[in-house]
This record gives sequence, structure tokens and C-alpha cells, in this order.
Amino acid sequence: MQAQDRIVLALDVDSKEKAISLVRELAGYVGVFKVGMQLYNSVGPDIVREINELGGKVFVDLKFHDIPNTVAAAGRVMARLGCHMFNVHAAGGREMMQALADELKQESKRLERPEPITLAVTVLTSINQEQLKQEMYVKDMQIEDLVVRWAIMAQECGIKGVVCSPQEIGAIRQACGPDFKIVTPGIRPAWSEANDQKRITTPRQALDMGADYMVIGRPIVKAGSPVEAALKIINELEE
Ligand code: C5P
Repeated sequence: MQAQDRIVLALDVDSKEKAISLVRELAGYVGVFKVGMQLYNSVGPDIVREINELGGKVFVDLKFHDIPNTVAAAGRVMARLGCHMFNVHAAGGREMMQALADELKQESKRLERPEPITLAVTVLTSINQEQLKQEMYVKDMQIEDLVVRWAIMAQECGIKGVVCSPQEIGAIRQACGPDFKIVTPGIRPAWSEANDQKRITTPRQALDMGADYMVIGRPIVKAGSPVEAALKIINELEE
């Protein structure tokens, strides 16, 4: 994979104009555009088609979590939309992930298109050990162990990868092998501000730890020149 293909640009804006202008500017410098709840819910699913028409691949970050039939149906919609990647909560369970994987296989065959890359979200990085115990009543598990168990379970169900914190890359790579896709946010080049991200990793460190894709937003979007910022990151990854 080329260095630029590893960059997933977070389109954390709420207007189509801002999103499309970033896509036009950066389509030649990043691999995937991430459309999350903010943008998707502001402008609707057509944004996926429009980005595709401009030559960009799309990661729809809506983290599905529902009964198996509903998540499978939502996955079918993602395949029809031409989405490149999307995610679900592993907490939705085995049956949910399996139903999704089966449905995507069938629908992609019917459409004669490659299957979207499905990613599992394990334990959100905003949840700490105390919350796991006090609010989710998971008393006998360390977060790191739960993350790896859920990654393995997702893989067994036919989910193609995970979104995880840089701290978890090593353990997941070891447990799930070289073909399992690992996507990680919390990325900050040495020259950019941390903003609200707490445990950060440079793009190069994330790559060395075994990440396939890095989700990067503000270090590129808020830079004086987004193209220059993306090029600097590509250079770091290629070094
Ligand atoms: O601007 P920044 O590079 O911090 O953007 C990171 C993106 O990754 C945002 O869209 C954020 O919602 C997402 N994300 C994250 N941490 C997680 C999961 C997703 O920063 N644990």
C-alpha cells in the first residue's frame, strides 16, 4: 500500500460545501475520506456518492449497533452507496456481526462490486477501566483484554478489521494476524498541536506499531496549507 493510501482524512465539518472543497483539494493526497455522524447527519448519504464521483473513497463512521437484521440491512445500504469502509460496535455481538458479514457478501456479489471493508469498534477510547466496572458492570476484565477478545470475535464473524487506539495495535496485530485491518486515530505529527487528543502517536510510530490506516483530521484540515501538511505526513511515512 502506498503511504498516501494509509491516510484517512476526518471530514469533521457540517456543510457539504466545506466537505467537498476539502475533497477537491486533498483527493490526490489522502487515501480515504471519513464521513462521521456530524457530516452524514447534516447533509445525508448523497455525500458518499459525491465524494466517490470526485475520485475519493469513503469511510462511513456511524458505528452501527442494533439487532442483527437491522445492522445487516444498514450494511446493504452501505454497499449500495459505494462506501469503502464502515464500522459497527463489536458490543452488538456475534450474531449481529455475522449477519452483517453474510449480507455484505451476498449484496456485493449481486452488485458485482468489491465488498466494503467492515471495521469493529471495541471499547471506545473515551471509556476507562472505572467506567467499565461501574457503568457497564464488567468487573473482571481489563480493557486491553476485552479489546483483544472482541477483535478476535469480530474477525471470527467475518469483520475485516478494527478501529483502535495506538496503544492497542500491537496486541491486536499479534492476536488477529497480518491481514486484519487496523485503523487508528489519535495521530499527531511532531509538528502539530495535540488539541483534545491525550495519548497521541505520530503517523510513523503508528505505522511501525502495525497500523494499516491512520485517521487524521485537524493536523491536516486546520493547517495553513492542508496539501503541504498531507505531503509532510506522506514523507514521514515513506522515510
Ligand atoms: O482532528 P483529529 O485528528 O483529532 O480527528 C480524529 C478523528 O478520529 C475524529 O473524527 C474523531 O472523532 C475520530 N476518533 C478519535 N478517537 C477515537 C475514535 C475516533 O479521535 N477513539
